[in-house]
Amino acid sequence: SLEFICALCAAYLLGAVPFGLVLTKALAKRDPREHGSGNIGATNAMRTGGKLVGALTLLADILKGSIPVLLAIYAGLTESAIAAIAAVTFLGHIFPVYLRFRGGKGVATMLGVMLPWQPLVAGIGVVIWLLALKVSRYVSLSSILAAVSLPLLIVWSGGSMPALEVGILIASLVTLKHASNIKRLLNGTEPATGSGRQAKQ
Ligand code: G3P
Repeated sequence: SLEFICALCAAYLLGAVPFGLVLTKALAKRDPREHGSGNIGATNAMRTGGKLVGALTLLADILKGSIPVLLAIYAGLTESAIAAIAAVTFLGHIFPVYLRFRGGKGVATMLGVMLPWQPLVAGIGVVIWLLALKVSRYVSLSSILAAVSLPLLIVWSGGSMPALEVGILIASLVTLKHASNIKRLLNGTEPATGSGRQAKQ
């Protein structure tokens, strides 16, 4: 229906809002695309603008993922329709029209869209991310592990086929968007948390 198409567009346009860029520019007067890894996500917003800017970016990027999916669930949409809303919201973050489609890596928004829809999967994903970070000290590696776990956790929890399809889409894109991190992890130049090293050497 036309209504659903409008909902998809609205979800995409909200997902595309680059909160990391907006908040870092507004609060720290710096552009995260010119610092650290150059990414607009919470990790690099923190490198560029400090802990508060990083935390606010994390919260905003989670919320912009959760809100459209929450509304879709409350509106009583079918599982396929909820999946479509989740997918376009996430795609908005990765390919934002406002930034010539050069978006973030999708980790916070992945959590955002999954939280209201697959809360158990999202919760376990957060635990995997936190444990991986504690052990490895690499944010990027932890994010990739959490992303790759997502489709597996959806299967394990008995999630629907549309949920699994979105999980596979998200896991693939998050992993692809971490290509530069994977290169740095392999050649030993990825900055570990607390090392004080810069992201881009
Ligand atoms: O926020 C995404 C995270 O997994 C990696 O970010 O800036 O270190 O490439 P970054």
